[in-house]
Amino acid sequence: MEPVIEVRDLRRDYVTSKGLLRRKTQTVRAVDGVSFTVERGEIFGMLGQNGAGKTTTIKMLITLLAPTSGVCRVLGCDTFGQEKQIRPRINFIFGGEMGVYRRLSARDNLKYFGNLYGVPPRLRDERIEEILRLVDLEEAADRLAETYSKGMLQRLQIARGLINDPEIVFMDEPTVGLDPLGAHMLRDIIRRLRDAGKTVLLTTHYLPEAEELCDRMVILNRGKIAASGTPAQIRGAEETMEDAYLRLIREVEV
Ligand SMILES: Nc1ncnc2c1ncn2[C@@H]1O[C@H](COP(=O)(O)OP(=O)(O)OP(=O)(O)O)[C@@H](O)[C@H]1O
Ligand SMILES: [Mg+2]
Repeated sequence: MEPVIEVRDLRRDYVTSKGLLRRKTQTVRAVDGVSFTVERGEIFGMLGQNGAGKTTTIKMLITLLAPTSGVCRVLGCDTFGQEKQIRPRINFIFGGEMGVYRRLSARDNLKYFGNLYGVPPRLRDERIEEILRLVDLEEAADRLAETYSKGMLQRLQIARGLINDPEIVFMDEPTVGLDPLGAHMLRDIIRRLRDAGKTVLLTTHYLPEAEELCDRMVILNRGKIAASGTPAQIRGAEETMEDAYLRLIREVEV
């Protein structure tokens, strides 16, 4: 079976201007020759230090940023050039950032985003009920989102990310800022998405979370892959995930 995500020798440079007159340019290689594949139905993790290139990789996968070079394919299509074929079939949730309207209720937010995706009204409304149940926002569904707690907003973001029934959900730090119970609920939702046949690619800085959730993962360091595999493959026999992570990050630095 063809992988649903295929990244081969992927690179992305950012060119920024510097100096007093902003005439000089500086190139940052944010993603530097990354390769991995994700199979349908997997929870796949991307770990790594701040600035390692995780969000840049996700942005290329969700068709928002063009690769500098390399292969970047989602559902068998190039993310740059065939984005029209990809966009209806994926969705993304960026933790901590607001992607919902606070002056609307959860239900109205979901109707709005459902319409943007062109979901027919009856199917849309059925789906909204199902999603509200999944993210446990049924009771608060008709209250304005501005009255929600951070965790509720985060669950509404998840709901928004499911409105087009995506085959792949990309999540950038979905549990950031959530309390332990909220993060636990979210991990439960992510597992239920996998059980429903969806593919989830997520980033996180919480190593126990990655270990608990991910079928496979990559650890990025300065734009390059420092390790990849199942959590058990990444950890040494006597090691914790944190020991393994620190070892891998330091190995590349010396
Ligand atoms: N728009 C931009 N312009 C210039 N440089 C950028 C831009 N976005 C990111 N970078 C640089 O690219 C590198 C990778 O950033 P990226 O956001 O992908 O890292 P990350 O792994 O998501 O980090 P974090 O864990 O902090 O979210 C960093 O050096 C960052 O400064
Ligand atoms: Mg990031």
